[in-house]
Amino acid sequence: MRHTHIEPAGHEIPRIIDRLRCLSSVKVLFVCLGNICRSPAAEGIFRDLVEKRDLTDRFVIDSAGLYGGHAGDLPDRRMRVHAFQRGYSLIHRSRPVRISDFEDFDLIIGMDDSNYDRLRAFAPTLEDREKVVRMIDFVKGFPQYDCVPDPYYDGAEGFETVLNLLEDGCSNLLDTLTAGCDPEK
Ligand code: 4NP
Repeated sequence: MRHTHIEPAGHEIPRIIDRLRCLSSVKVLFVCLGNICRSPAAEGIFRDLVEKRDLTDRFVIDSAGLYGGHAGDLPDRRMRVHAFQRGYSLIHRSRPVRISDFEDFDLIIGMDDSNYDRLRAFAPTLEDREKVVRMIDFVKGFPQYDCVPDPYYDGAEGFETVLNLLEDGCSNLLDTLTAGCDPEK
C-alpha cells in the first residue's frame, strides 16, 4: 500500500505544541481535501474527547477542506455511518480553507503530506506556516502509516483505518496540549 512503511515512521511531536501547552484557549483546525471524510471525523473525535474531559471552555474546534467542491455538504454518508458506530455524530458542513483561518487558529492540522504542503504554501506569514502540522505526528499506535490516507475511493476498511488513526492521534494531541497543566486555570 502506498501509504504504509515497513519500518516505523518515528513521528515526532511538532515543536509548536510546547508554545500552546496549557494555554487557557487553543483553537484547532483540522484540514483534509474535501472536508467530508477525514477532517470532519477528526473534528468530531477531538470534540468528543474535549467534552468528556470537561475542557470545552479551553478549545475552539473546526475543520475545513482544500477543495471547495463539497462546500455546504454534510460528511460523506459512509464516514457518518462508521463514525456513528463508534458513538460520534458528525454534523459539520464542509467549507473551504480561507486565508483568515491562519489568523483565527493556533494549530492547523493536515491529514496527509499534500494537505500539509498546500497549507504551508498558503500561509500568509512565516509564523502562520509554523501553525501547520501533520495529524500523523500525533499517532502513536500505527507506526506503519505515514499519513491519514484518503478513504474516499476505498471500501469500509479505509474508513475504519481513518477512525483508528484519528482516535489514537486526537487522544495524544489532547494529552500533549494538557499534560501537566493546572486544571483550574
Ligand atoms: P477527504 O476525502 O479529503 O477526507 O474529505 C475526500 C473527499 C472528496 C474528494 C476527495 C477526498 N473528492 O475528490 O471529491
